Amino acid sequence: MIPSNTENDNKKASLKSPNLELITTGDGSSSLLNTELNDFYHSTKGAIRESLYVYIEQGLDYFKKIDTSCKHIKILEIGFGTGLNALLAINWAKNNSCLVDYESLETHPLPAAIYTQLQFKNWSKNVAKIHQCEWGVTHSINKVFKLTKHSASLENFKQMASYYDIIFFDAFSPSKQPSIWYQSNLKKCFNYLKKNGVLVTYCAKGQFKRDLIAIGFEIETLPGAMGKWEMVRAQKVN
Ligand SMILES: C[S@@+](CC[C@H](N)C(=O)[O-])C[C@H]1O[C@@H](n2cnc3c(N)ncnc32)[C@H](O)[C@@H]1O
Repeated sequence: MIPSNTENDNKKASLKSPNLELITTGDGSSSLLNTELNDFYHSTKGAIRESLYVYIEQGLDYFKKIDTSCKHIKILEIGFGTGLNALLAINWAKNNSCLVDYESLETHPLPAAIYTQLQFKNWSKNVAKIHQCEWGVTHSINKVFKLTKHSASLENFKQMASYYDIIFFDAFSPSKQPSIWYQSNLKKCFNYLKKNGVLVTYCAKGQFKRDLIAIGFEIETLPGAMGKWEMVRAQKVN
């Protein structure tokens, strides 16, 4: 049966919040378009594939390789968004028998009408659970994974120095949200990281890389995900 216009319109409306549109990316996983910024939350070629590559392989797998004795990792994410990176990290913690404390900052939490529609294949199981966790409270998602979501911007968030092992810097792009990439925010990240801690991001803009170096990071420009030219991994070596 062909749905009536009203049914179609209702369906579209339920997939939209004032400035968000649900999309399906090239690998079949969901993502969002922020229509105000005209920026996507992930690569339209594949949200899961991009996040797995940038944050899990180049972030968590790399960190485990350089710190083989590490059994407890503290992560800070900038931009909780759909929660995809958290879902992938839950899986990683289980597979690697590693305790993970995952903290994530978000200024615009998703409404239930949006997060209940997200499809992340094998990783979908915990979508509702992580979105329903109360903000500002630490939740044990399972025996190895703790999640704390902070309803805060990076600009206003405060943490002690040398606290995190890894930062997932997953903000909107510098051309769409330049302020979050300011040196003052990157300095904060440097300060929050432990010695040898790493920051990973999909972004590899020249000014961003120069700012990281000026702050004291050692950077690697790595091949990017899903046809993107490059990505960056920055390490606090001293
Ligand atoms: C590229 S999207 C998020 C991607 C997210 N990691 C995911 O997998 O869905 C960027 C996110 O950063 C959030 N954000 C915007 N400004 C922010 C700020 N100043 N501090 C922290 N998060 C911010 C946005 O609301 C959005 O959810």
